[in-house]
Amino acid sequence: MTRTDLHIGLFGFGVVGQGLHAVLARTPGLRARIGRIAVRSRTKPRPLPAELFTFDKNDLLGDPALTVIVELIDDADEAYLIVKEALLRGKAVVTANKKMLAEHLPELIAIQQQTGTPLLYEAAACASLPVIRNLEEYYDTDLLESVEGIINGSTNYILTAMHRDRQPYAEALARAQALGFAESNPALDVEGLDARNKLVLLLAHAFGLVVAPADLLAVGITAISELATAYAREQGLIIKLVAEARRLPGGRLAAGVLPTLVRPGHELAQVHDEFNGLITQSTFADRQFFLGRGAGAFPTASAVLSDLSALTYGYRYGYKKIQQNAHLALAPDAAEVEVLVTFDEANAPAEADFSAVHEQFRSAQRGNYLTGTIGLGQLARAAWLRRPGVSVVRLAGPLRATMAP
Ligand SMILES: NC(=O)c1ccc[n+]([C@@H]2O[C@H](COP(=O)([O-])OP(=O)(O)OC[C@H]3O[C@@H](n4cnc5c(N)ncnc54)[C@H](OP(=O)(O)O)[C@@H]3O)[C@@H](O)[C@H]2O)c1
Repeated sequence: MTRTDLHIGLFGFGVVGQGLHAVLARTPGLRARIGRIAVRSRTKPRPLPAELFTFDKNDLLGDPALTVIVELIDDADEAYLIVKEALLRGKAVVTANKKMLAEHLPELIAIQQQTGTPLLYEAAACASLPVIRNLEEYYDTDLLESVEGIINGSTNYILTAMHRDRQPYAEALARAQALGFAESNPALDVEGLDARNKLVLLLAHAFGLVVAPADLLAVGITAISELATAYAREQGLIIKLVAEARRLPGGRLAAGVLPTLVRPGHELAQVHDEFNGLITQSTFADRQFFLGRGAGAFPTASAVLSDLSALTYGYRYGYKKIQQNAHLALAPDAAEVEVLVTFDEANAPAEADFSAVHEQFRSAQRGNYLTGTIGLGQLARAAWLRRPGVSVVRLAGPLRATMAP
């Protein structure tokens, strides 16, 4: 097999872009050269010669010598325009931009299929963990039943700092930002939206299901109350932000992102700091666990590097499961979860929304909570879910097929 030389036009020279530059310099075996770098700011000092940089995207997109575009900017709307234009011009693309991918996946798949030009994005889901290509290729024939994990490094860093080091939330977030783990807009991390964008990508490659981010419930970590934290401690459990997608009987699938109570012996309890962990459950291989760094310059660049190497062998995603699993449909109303809801008196959840309420606690000093079973779709629709003073944490246990009639 012959390997192609790569002439790269790089968009973005921030945490990941600089990481990639450094990683490529230490990987002489890969015949890849960065020809030009597009950035936004004209005033920022750069550690490389000025002539390497441009502020005009057309200097890269219009240069026939640059055969590969690596898109590592923090502006999803602009990234979409760049990636689409590059693919239509026949340039292979590697990107780490999960927001852009999740918002435009159907169109980007169609363009790849029309043009035959590859778009690879291993770094966009779980940074250094090789999940996309494994889901796409390795689990090609073994039937995946679920994927479940911690897929956002910043929130895991924050939750670890709060639980293990007793750091206040704001301090932990500031540190995650300083270390380059957080998105430029940290709301994407802490509201669970970044994890949801990654879950969109996992669904496409694990199950062949292409959905819009808004189709999936995402609850982040900002609303987690002191009472919920105290409840977790008293029960000896750890709160983690967990994304899960699970096949249910009858060609249905449920998926969402929720803060979740994890018991200490569970694989996900071993995922600390900015690490990510993903558990796959499949019919023949059974349970498997991927663990590794889910953010940061070098770990993320390592996934970009692997995609670049794959391009030299002519690799592209086949999206085979979209045809194989054409019968599969997202069905949030077919699943239910056990939750702990803490709330203030003015914002109590509607008990009628629950198929069962297991426990109720009300105290003027400590606050109020209930535990109960609720449909995933019902939870997503509940007006009280987004009210101030309401915190929802999933109790341990997977999404399961609803037992309600
Ligand atoms: N950081 C991580 O750990 C991590 C992990 C996985 C995925 N990602 C993804 O990787 C991408 C980059 O993240 P990052 O952390 O490296 O961001 P970053 O440090 O904020 O850097 C962003 C870079 O994009 C450039 N930029 C922004 N808009 C641009 C435009 N319109 N044209 C050209 N350049 C533009 C900026 O230029 P200036 O230098 O001029 O400001 C900067 O160099 C994002 O999609 C992010 O979600 C990051």
